[in-house]
Amino acid sequence: MTSLRVSHILGIETSCDECSASIIRDDGTSLQPLSLSTHTQIALHQPYGGVVPEIASRNHLETIHEVMEHSLRQASLQLADLDAIAVTNRPGLVGALLVGVSAAKALAYALKKPLLPIHHLEGHLSSLYLKKEAFDPALYPMLVAIVSGGHTELHLLATPPDQWAYPGVERSIFQNTRIGRSRDDAAGEAFDKTAKLLGLPYPGGRWIDEIASQGGNPAAYELPKALPQKSTLDFSFSGLKTAVALLVQKIPQDALKSALPDLCASIQEAILDALWAKIVLAIRQHEARSLAIVGGVAANSRLRAKMDAQWEKIGLRCSPLFPEPAYCTDNAAMIAAAGALRLRKGLVLLQERLLALNAVANPEA
Ligand code: KG4
Ligand code: ZN
Repeated sequence: MTSLRVSHILGIETSCDECSASIIRDDGTSLQPLSLSTHTQIALHQPYGGVVPEIASRNHLETIHEVMEHSLRQASLQLADLDAIAVTNRPGLVGALLVGVSAAKALAYALKKPLLPIHHLEGHLSSLYLKKEAFDPALYPMLVAIVSGGHTELHLLATPPDQWAYPGVERSIFQNTRIGRSRDDAAGEAFDKTAKLLGLPYPGGRWIDEIASQGGNPAAYELPKALPQKSTLDFSFSGLKTAVALLVQKIPQDALKSALPDLCASIQEAILDALWAKIVLAIRQHEARSLAIVGGVAANSRLRAKMDAQWEKIGLRCSPLFPEPAYCTDNAAMIAAAGALRLRKGLVLLQERLLALNAVANPEA
């Protein structure tokens, strides 16, 4: 009997304001996270109400060694035990990406191990495969909604990744087709920008979630639904931001605090209803058998509860797949998972080629 090869992949993520390292053990059938160490820069950027690129890069430079060492210690492994290094090299803040890319190149070159460049969205998609059931072919075609601070996209996955003959290092490791996207703000951005209008700290998604769950009435305020036209699978969230700005102006300053739970619940509902409407349409149009939701907004408690309550009504085979909350917001475990899936197919950069790897800011490049 031949035994499956076990690999250990170190993942590194520095595309925005999380400096993260993780080690995944791939036994050929499942991907197990052995460690995840993340240094979040939220407190550093909070006074500015958003991410300041130069502060992000400088902080990554100060913390990257610490998170890598911590993830090795947590996994009880040495550098020599690693089989490959995976790193986000696009898209993101270029100065922030360069820190992770430089560290990964140095490690891979010195250890004479393969380097795996990862597109950040391929990372979010790969967070799904940290759950073994996502590999089940009976769940395909699968609709995957990527809902993060930077992106809101609907992808149709024809097969699980191991049934897909990969065309090359630069191409996706998934047999995926993007069937819908936001035309302006991403869903996470809609949470963050409306939260800012309410005077909540950055990033506001988590705060809206938390305050709404303190008894907020989701029907208290009527807010516009993004692109309600039946035919398109695209989203638009900028109208919501304008409506919230106008609404907040009408509420007296001393009444704002007590109105917060209702405001948060209504804003959250408007975003989730828009997501749900397009998800239902996409499932019907493309006859998807299952639904998965990934990215920072997938950590939202109301979204998880709403989708869990409604999946049977729209003919799905099982309840929606969500990564664990720690693997929804930016993290290196999803990057290591994407690396593991690439390594299985030999989609690697080796000694001579890895030195040329660069960071790319543009998501479509
Ligand atoms: O995936 P992610 O960590 O970063 C990007 O790739 O953009 O997503 C961050 C986004 C932020 O907009 C944040 O407000 C949102 O995810 N988010 C949430 C929650 N937790 C994070 N939005 C709603 N509810 C949450 N619980
Ligand atoms: Zn992300």
